[in-house]
Formats: sequence, structure tokens, C-alpha cells
Amino acid sequence: MKTFTLTRPDDCHLHVRSGALLKTVLRHTARQFGRAIIMPNLKPPVTTVAQALVYRDEILQAIPETVSFEPLMTLYLTAATTLEEIERAAQSEHIYAFKLYPAGATTNSDAGVADVTRIYSLLAALEKHDLPLLLHGEVTDIECDIFDREQRFIDRYLIDIVKQFPNLRMVLEHVTTKEAVQFVEGADSTVAATITPQHLLFNRNAMLSGGIKPHYYCLPVLKREIHRLTLVNAAISGNKKFFLGTDSAPHLTHLKENACGCAGCYSAFGAMELYTQLFDQENALDKLEGFASFYGADFYRLPRNVGKITLQKQTWTVPAQYDEITPLKAGEELMWKLI
Ligand code: DOR
Ligand code: ZN
Repeated sequence: MKTFTLTRPDDCHLHVRSGALLKTVLRHTARQFGRAIIMPNLKPPVTTVAQALVYRDEILQAIPETVSFEPLMTLYLTAATTLEEIERAAQSEHIYAFKLYPAGATTNSDAGVADVTRIYSLLAALEKHDLPLLLHGEVTDIECDIFDREQRFIDRYLIDIVKQFPNLRMVLEHVTTKEAVQFVEGADSTVAATITPQHLLFNRNAMLSGGIKPHYYCLPVLKREIHRLTLVNAAISGNKKFFLGTDSAPHLTHLKENACGCAGCYSAFGAMELYTQLFDQENALDKLEGFASFYGADFYRLPRNVGKITLQKQTWTVPAQYDEITPLKAGEELMWKLI
């Protein structure tokens, strides 16, 4: 049977929540990934080093004993973030980045930044301390079409941020459009991007055609096929600017199958299986290790993991539920299995 072995990968964009959900989802991530960049959009958001260390301890407690996994913590950037907190974060060995959510862009983003141009003094401090800025790159204007929000964010904010802060390392998270890919490709080496499994595998028809499918709803929302194809080409290109970030974002099933369903796809259960299927379909398995295991670590200036994982080409069916979470592709077949 065909197998594929690669250096243990890192998930450079992950939501693990806290409490009961954390226990369910973390074991899925920890069996595949050596480390993950942990998103800070809890309720209340993780805005201080002290809060992040408490959260980190909760995560460490939830890691199964049989695996070694390291959570890489981030802080939520708000208009109220102080220069002292940025300095504390820079001094902490456990804080790897700050995350910027435009206010109201997505799950638990009420504390986000209303006008990005007004926090330039904070961006200058991140640049000075060499702390990466992670971006949810969508504007939130109610009149801006939801399918155009990423592109508008680039035009309105990102072009200027890159110009004003040439040494600020930043990650445009979960890119979804041709425009975002082209922007990242054309920018300096300080600018990188993560790509999710759902944006590589599906276009918006998966969510909207033949009945509305809430488990395919995430933000930024799935786009047209032309955008998906551009993302696939970026992921399999071997360009170090593009690396793995699942954006696995668990929500209880009833909160997604709802008149006002939450945004987020749960992919952590089989993230490497999903990416491997895509890279295999594209005859690009030789490019998967760079994307999954090297480029993210290199961007964050971390040593690459030393262990390996192996997947086997074997069909299996994704369960309907993991506890009360409906996974991406629930009830459908995957072609690769982690062994
Ligand atoms: O779909 C999403 N879900 N996008 C995000 O940016 C946040 C995430 C979540 O936390 O649920
Ligand atoms: Zn996210």
C-alpha cells in the first residue's frame, strides 16, 4: 500500500477554544502536528501575556500524554493594547505573534480594531520588537460585498502597512483570493500567507449549491473556482511564502446548523489527510513537506521538527460527529489515513 512520510508538520493557524471543546479538538491536532500557532479569539479575548500564559497552561493540561505538542501563543491586538504589553510579549518565550482582527470580522472579534490606520504606533512597536503581525484580512463595511472583503482590505490597508513597516513580518491568514495570492507573491519576504484545507478543496458551490451547507461556511467565505485554483497553485508551488494553517475552528453542531450559523470549518480531525489528498490529486506530494513542515517554521524562525509522520493511501469515512462537533466532509470518504 502506498505510504507517504514527512517531517512532523506545524499548524500555523489554529483555534482550539477552551473548556470541554479544547479536550476534544486538541488530541486531533496533537497526533499530527508538532506545534500550532494558537489563535487568541476567546471570550474574553487573550490580550495580555498573563492571560496567554494561563491559556497555555490549560492547553498543556489537555495534551494527551502519549504525544509531544507545543502550543505557540499569540495575543489579540486591540486599540487598547499598550506599548508595555508589546514589550512584555517580546520578552516572553511563549508569545510568537499578535493577531489583528478588524472589529466584527468574525467569531469573537468585537474587541477587534475599528480603524487599522489608527494603531500604527502599535505596528511600529511590533516591527521594532520583531514580533510578527497576523492578519484577518477582511474589511467589515456593511456595504462591501462579502466576496470582495479580502481584496478591499489589501487595497485599503495592507498596501500601506507593508510600505510603512518594511521590516514588520506579517502573515495574511487564510488567503482566499487570486488578488491575495498575487499580493503576497509580489511583496517582500516579510510577507507570507497561510492556506486552509477548505479553501484548497472547495469553492463556494460546496456551501451554496443543492441546499445550504453550513459546515462549509467559514470566514473569509469560500470563493469562486478561479480563486481556488490560484490557491492550489500557490500551495504546490514550493514558494516559501505559502504555508499550512488550517484555521480549524470548531463550533457545536447546533450553532452552525442555525438560523444565524457560526463561521468556521472543523478540520483538525484530519487536517493532514485533507492536505495530502489535495497534494496527491495535484501530483505534488513532493511539495507537501515544504508547505506543511518547513516554511512556517522558517518564517517563525523556529527549528524544523525532527520527528516524522506517515500517511497511508487508504479510504476511510469521516464520522458524522466528534462529540458535538460536525467535521468537514462528515460522512464522506478520504483517500489518505494517518498511521
Ligand atoms: O471561519 C472562521 N472561524 N474564521 C475566523 O476568522 C474565525 C474562526 C472562528 O474562530 O470560529
Ligand atoms: Zn482563524
